[in-house]
Amino acid sequence: MNHFTYHNGELCCEDVRIKDIAAQVGTPFYLYSTATLKRHFTAFESGFEGMAHQTCFAVKACSNIAILNLFATLGGGADIVSGGELFRALQAEVEPQKIIYSGVGKTGKELREALQAGILMFNVESPQELDRLQAVAAEMNTIARIAFRINPDVDPKTHAYISTGLAKNKFGVPVAEALQEYLRAKVMPNIKIVGVSCHIGSQLTQIEPFIEALRKVKAFIAQLEQEDIQIKYVDMGGGIGIPYDDEQPPHPTDYAAAVRAELTGMKVTLILEPGRVLVGNAGILVTEVQYTKVNSGGEQEKRFIIVDAAMNDLARPSLYGAHHEILPVHAPAAKERQRADVVGPICESGDFLAKDRIMPEVQPGELLAVMSSGAYGFSMSSTYNSRPRAAEVIVSGGSFQVIRQRECYADLVRGEAVSALA
Ligand code: LLP
Repeated sequence: MNHFTYHNGELCCEDVRIKDIAAQVGTPFYLYSTATLKRHFTAFESGFEGMAHQTCFAVKACSNIAILNLFATLGGGADIVSGGELFRALQAEVEPQKIIYSGVGKTGKELREALQAGILMFNVESPQELDRLQAVAAEMNTIARIAFRINPDVDPKTHAYISTGLAKNKFGVPVAEALQEYLRAKVMPNIKIVGVSCHIGSQLTQIEPFIEALRKVKAFIAQLEQEDIQIKYVDMGGGIGIPYDDEQPPHPTDYAAAVRAELTGMKVTLILEPGRVLVGNAGILVTEVQYTKVNSGGEQEKRFIIVDAAMNDLARPSLYGAHHEILPVHAPAAKERQRADVVGPICESGDFLAKDRIMPEVQPGELLAVMSSGAYGFSMSSTYNSRPRAAEVIVSGGSFQVIRQRECYADLVRGEAVSALA
């Protein structure tokens, strides 16, 4: 459920007409609905009510500090994977004791910054990272709270690029080796073991793989207890999918009920790292049609709708073949529909937002809304082809605010210099 709906033939975000925003901000831009963000957060949380838990939003899904701050005001923390994400979370006033740090390649500098900030825990992903963290914490004369991210070898049944919990993936420590690492960590002077974590993948449309992973985590915790290692936090990671097209992912409350049932009787605090499920359908990308063209001469005529957003703005269709619904901002009055590719101006054939899509006939100057773009949309955007990054805008009720200015040409060359060495 989201707040992007038509009123009198005009697509609105809550009570604001999208065409009015476009007239002031220009295109392309990302647009988020505060009411949808809040609704998704509270719906997610409601499933875990009465249970010791902390929701740590996966910053990588949508990193704008306005969004991070909104979740923080609702009690959310942050799951970070870089020093840059730590910086954003702190800027957004996320409480440090609600921040957890995942990722396979944390540098010494990043570990230092996170220790300095006093984050809740590090999800350690290798023996080498544990050694580095011990050394950095000793140097700073502090204690690092850790969980190991264990790799449960569970198939999440999602796109190969976003599966992370299989033995062949680069993530986590195999269950078989994890006990040895916990025993090593137990006697390290600057390490305090507090948790076990796992994250098996993203855009999951079934509950079973989560539960299979959780059962492996539970069995592992029982093994740890035998070694007198007590676990306070069980971190389930993120991964619940959303409907982009005709997928039927589990409702967050069903997911919560299944997790709750598995954890009955365990005295642990559950940590969750949802990303997509909170923001995916709370954001869209608005773009303007520049040209339409028909290329004939091949086996069949091919129609293209060329818009001013491209793979640098929304990489998901090019990168994963992902489906995003595309709606006209001005609803057509029974216009003719035609099959077309919706493409951007970038010089690659892989630059498309939709392929062979049945679209209403559109004219240059018309606005299109690329739906379900709130997760991994702006946060994965780049300046490829020297295209300044899009603006980000948020709506609340009848008002809107720019939460990230559109980049300008000067931003593109910031930090660059003409070489004096030639
Ligand atoms: N926790 C960890 C350790 C993660 O690596 C991720 C996502 C999450 C939580 C959040 O997962 P979510 O709830 O959003 O599924 N760019 C891809 C998705 C990459 C996901 C990376 N990790 C896409 O556009 O589909």
